[in-house]
Amino acid sequence: MQTFHTIAALRQALTKARAAGVRIALVPTMGNLHQGHLALVEEARRRADLVVASIFVNPIQFGPSEDFARYPRTLDDDRAQLESTGCDVLFAPDVDTLYPNGLDGLTQVRVPKVSQGLCAATRPGHFDGVATVVSLLFHIVGPDVALFGNKDYQQLAVIRKLVADLHFPIEIVDVPTVRDADGLALSSRNGYLDREQRERAPLLARSLRSIAERLAQGIPAAQALAQGRDTLEAQGFVIDYLELRAPDLAPLDGDARQAILLAAAYLGTTRLLDNLAVTLP
Ligand code: PAJ
Repeated sequence: MQTFHTIAALRQALTKARAAGVRIALVPTMGNLHQGHLALVEEARRRADLVVASIFVNPIQFGPSEDFARYPRTLDDDRAQLESTGCDVLFAPDVDTLYPNGLDGLTQVRVPKVSQGLCAATRPGHFDGVATVVSLLFHIVGPDVALFGNKDYQQLAVIRKLVADLHFPIEIVDVPTVRDADGLALSSRNGYLDREQRERAPLLARSLRSIAERLAQGIPAAQALAQGRDTLEAQGFVIDYLELRAPDLAPLDGDARQAILLAAAYLGTTRLLDNLAVTLP
């Protein structure tokens, strides 16, 4: 695996590959890699000749009181995991490389509608930061296909809209959420949980499954959601949101059959995120 820290060196390598007709996949990440990230790399491996992963903890998608400074940075370990998963190229720029003109007055990409509500209600500007950095990475790497996890459902919706509106000639592939044996969705932020919180954390996924079962039995959404909310709160979760939406995140239409159940909740200071597709009767 080749590692590049500068845009010029990466571009030079990829321009040659592209000229030779090589199909390029991009897996953007913030590092501290786990099996969820590696599932994206494995899927990329199946869909392209050359797999590029990026690792960049993107300051502009973190709010002022969020965890940018303490976000885990584990480049050596990440590099070893990428290498053994068959990644060809790692792009790991630093902040000055990606944002050489500073953050003040930076050109931003905003995807207004899908970036509202859900995660954005408590993380204003978060998806502008994501849309901006993903646009930069798309311009720099010029992939044929880019892969994103379904776990970050709203992020995926933002990226699909971004690609459509800005005519990026890039296929977007989503990859199912990878979970621990007890159901907890893998996340770099799970490392913030202490042992006792880690034991309670799978209740989020379990509650989504039990809400989905109740919905499938015909129990009204308001009732099923309220029950789920009570169970989580009784176990010390502080719910940020628990919502049922249409798969495209629009408000749910009365006779819809397919829906998506989305949740974000805090255990202590750690914010957990999950979602589950639901079939309604
Ligand atoms: P990060 O949280 O590192 O996640 C990188 C990619 O891995 C995202 O597409 C995310 O959805 C996916 N992912 C994370 N956990 C997963 C899991 N358990 N199963 C499957 N996929 C999972 O998301 C970001 O970084 C950033 O916002 C980024 C898109 C890189 C822009 O900075």
